[in-house]
Amino acid sequence: MSAKPVINYGLDGIYVDESSISKVDGLNGKLWYRGYSIESLADQSNYEEVSYLLLNGKLPSSKEYEEFTKKLKERSDLPKEVIDLIKVMATKSHPMDVMRTATSMLVMYDKDPNNREPTSTLDKIVTLIAKTASIAAATGRFRENKEYIPPDPSLGHSANFLYMLTGKKPNEFESKLIDLMFILHAEHSTNASTFSVLVTASTLADVYSATTSGIGTLKGPLHGGADEAALSMMNAIGDPKNTEKYIEEALEGKQRIMGFGHRIYKTYDPRAKIVRRFLDESLAKEPSDEVKRLLQIALRAEKMMVEKLGATKGIWPNVDFFAGPLYRVLGIDGHLFTPIFVASRMAGWGSHVVEYWGNNKLVRPVEWYVGSLDLPYVPIAQR
Ligand code: ACO
Repeated sequence: MSAKPVINYGLDGIYVDESSISKVDGLNGKLWYRGYSIESLADQSNYEEVSYLLLNGKLPSSKEYEEFTKKLKERSDLPKEVIDLIKVMATKSHPMDVMRTATSMLVMYDKDPNNREPTSTLDKIVTLIAKTASIAAATGRFRENKEYIPPDPSLGHSANFLYMLTGKKPNEFESKLIDLMFILHAEHSTNASTFSVLVTASTLADVYSATTSGIGTLKGPLHGGADEAALSMMNAIGDPKNTEKYIEEALEGKQRIMGFGHRIYKTYDPRAKIVRRFLDESLAKEPSDEVKRLLQIALRAEKMMVEKLGATKGIWPNVDFFAGPLYRVLGIDGHLFTPIFVASRMAGWGSHVVEYWGNNKLVRPVEWYVGSLDLPYVPIAQR
């Protein structure tokens, strides 16, 4: 019997590949997409440009940008069968279940779904970016028994998402807020969902199967689902003055405070800092009483958690913590937060698939077996 190996539970600290897509510096709280700091992209770029950058490894020229955005606009409408599917599911299932099913269905419209050439994969991802935003919007409409709104080609990608969801063309500030969320969620190295995408891609399955795997993985509250869970917690707290008592009791009961902690960041998540900055800007624009209340709760929870667990345990706010109040500035329902995350992350997932297929290796880790061996088989009548 050989000696028990070191087991890295949750693949903690295990390198699985080299990548030039994004760098997460968890000790210093920094993030770069293809070498550009998240702050510079959040302040100066837009989601279309960021997606192009992630997928192609460089910022687009004016001509490339025009072609890329044209494709997104042309592809953002949904096929009738997909609209019908969303309509059937939207009032019965969680929007992430709708997103997973509808995204999987998109394979039906691809005449060459198994083509893994980089140009073909990139093209499929552009379609997936375009259509997943519309799936999220249509799901929001049908959940409220409203009609599907076709895309408006005069709008940018994320502003169009908001228009398809609300039926109202967003103003400049609203467009900036939703675009910011799309940029911040576009990529984050080999986290659980990206790894899940790559595990499926490594079998040489098609890109629809790979991204559908990612959607299933993103759904969980320890990962992408934390944004919705954090908002639910703020709503459960209700009155800002209950915040400290609620958190104290939750921690005593060994519960996790959603929107805090991260496997890699042992300091403030730089994306959370950016969301918080834009929330401050939103406050200057007289938001609803609900948003003001949520923000008060969020700031009190942040202060308490940072004092209690920041320096001692390295548990700080992550991107999902302030996302809820910011989405509520835009009137977006909590159930749609994670589907928006999917629509945005499609760019990151797609970039990783293209990169991984450039040097594919089947993912197949090992387990240390601790069960029995050579048990005598007993026929069922004698058991
Ligand atoms: N609230 C309270 N305690 C926490 C939290 C939290 N949010 N996060 C971690 N801890 C504690 C754990 O209870 C554990 O304590 P112990 O050592 O006394 O047992 C310790 O910190 C380490 O926790 P692990 O789960 O082992 O650390 P890991 O690196 O696996 O956790 C994770 C990362 C899963 C994100 C965790 O911090 C968590 O559950 N956070 C809440 C969910 C969340 O916000 N997820 C979104 C992450 S960002 C994203 O995916 C987009």
